Amino acid sequence: MASASHTKEELLDEVRQRYAWAATAVGRGVSTTEVNDSLRVVAACDSSGCGSVDVAVDESFGAAFYDSDDQEVLPAEAIAASLGCGNPTAVAELRAGEKVLDLGSGGGIDVLLSARRVGQTGFAYGVDMTDEMLELARANAEKAGATNVEFLKGTIEDVPLAGASVDMVISNCVINLSVDKPKVLAEMYRVLVPGGRIGISDVVAENHLTADDRADRGSYVGCIAGALSKQEYLTGLAEVGFVHAEVEFTHEAVPGMHGAIIRATKPSA
Ligand SMILES: C[S@@+](CC[C@H](N)C(=O)[O-])C[C@H]1O[C@@H](n2cnc3c(N)ncnc32)[C@H](O)[C@@H]1O
Repeated sequence: MASASHTKEELLDEVRQRYAWAATAVGRGVSTTEVNDSLRVVAACDSSGCGSVDVAVDESFGAAFYDSDDQEVLPAEAIAASLGCGNPTAVAELRAGEKVLDLGSGGGIDVLLSARRVGQTGFAYGVDMTDEMLELARANAEKAGATNVEFLKGTIEDVPLAGASVDMVISNCVINLSVDKPKVLAEMYRVLVPGGRIGISDVVAENHLTADDRADRGSYVGCIAGALSKQEYLTGLAEVGFVHAEVEFTHEAVPGMHGAIIRATKPSA
């Protein structure tokens, strides 16, 4: 979904630049709150309508979704780099020995938590297009002493893994940033083994909000303007072959748009 004033290439470039900035800001010790706030221009809505202003939305984005047990086992830099809108590892029901892929892995928080859940017989991959994020994630993996992880450079529209190579795909607040969402859904289906599952956190709009309504409520790079609606998610997942798809709203991020958990399964062969 490209906005009227931006081409897809311009949006992609803006996303890459903003998240490169976020990765290096974390390295310079800028707080999670400041990084998350500066990424988002959020609408203030009242009875007379909505207008774009800068608003702190820290409770809707960042490390607050991870309990203290999770936070204690990770390097502080991985927590500080958390830019998600949920905690997919809390709902993913990962099992020992499984292979997991995190789309848009950022500073690595969900890859590192997944790696602990699947254990030494399992493996966790992260894919991200931003060099600065990959560098941060690899440094965090080293600090965490994680040996069953790998961070791959690539896009979520063209995942650098073979078909049927992972049991679970997770992602945290990234699919809304994609300029080709049908391709991302098709890639998730391709890389999963038959019977594989997705457990995604993302911002999702109520069905009645138009693309303009969503853009009024926040920026594209801030994970708001590019969000799919609940019905668009369900239709898109069904179109590429997923079954048992569900979208569950968990918290309202801005009026009419929610942090949500998206689950679905690739049918068994
Ligand atoms: C909002 S941050 C979320 C990072 C991480 N999932 C987390 O929870 O902290 C978005 C991340 O997705 C990456 N990203 C955005 N669009 C992408 C795309 N099309 N392909 C690969 N990575 C992408 C960005 O570089 C950034 O690291």
